[in-house]
Amino acid sequence: MKKISDLVQESDWKTEKHVPVIDFPKTLQKDKMFEISVEVGKEIAHPNTTEHHICWASLYFLPEGEKFPYQVGHYEFSAHGASVEGPNTSSVYTNHRLSVWNKTRKAGKLFAVSLCNIHGLWQSSKEIEFSS
Ligand code: FE2
Repeated sequence: MKKISDLVQESDWKTEKHVPVIDFPKTLQKDKMFEISVEVGKEIAHPNTTEHHICWASLYFLPEGEKFPYQVGHYEFSAHGASVEGPNTSSVYTNHRLSVWNKTRKAGKLFAVSLCNIHGLWQSSKEIEFSS
């Protein structure tokens, strides 16, 4: 019996357009707000059409030594060119990038998960460490 974790794919974001890429400033301080972005297709653009697009992305943080992650961001990329005229007839397309501001006193690991409507679930992770 498969678990959902068996269905989430991982790869190198520089060669695979579905991987959500997590970015934040190189230097972080404890308890100070900082911006975290998650972008799908950072190196190789992912399509954004009515037929093929990124539906959503979520960001979780697992503080060091804790058992459960916190969801720190989620965004639904809702507009993909559809209108009453049909697929790809509007000029409205939501780009698949989210940005959140966050602070923490603990180091830990960020996990991003995103969904392509035809290529499934993708994830990546990145460690958060403090400079002092
Ligand atoms: Fe896709």
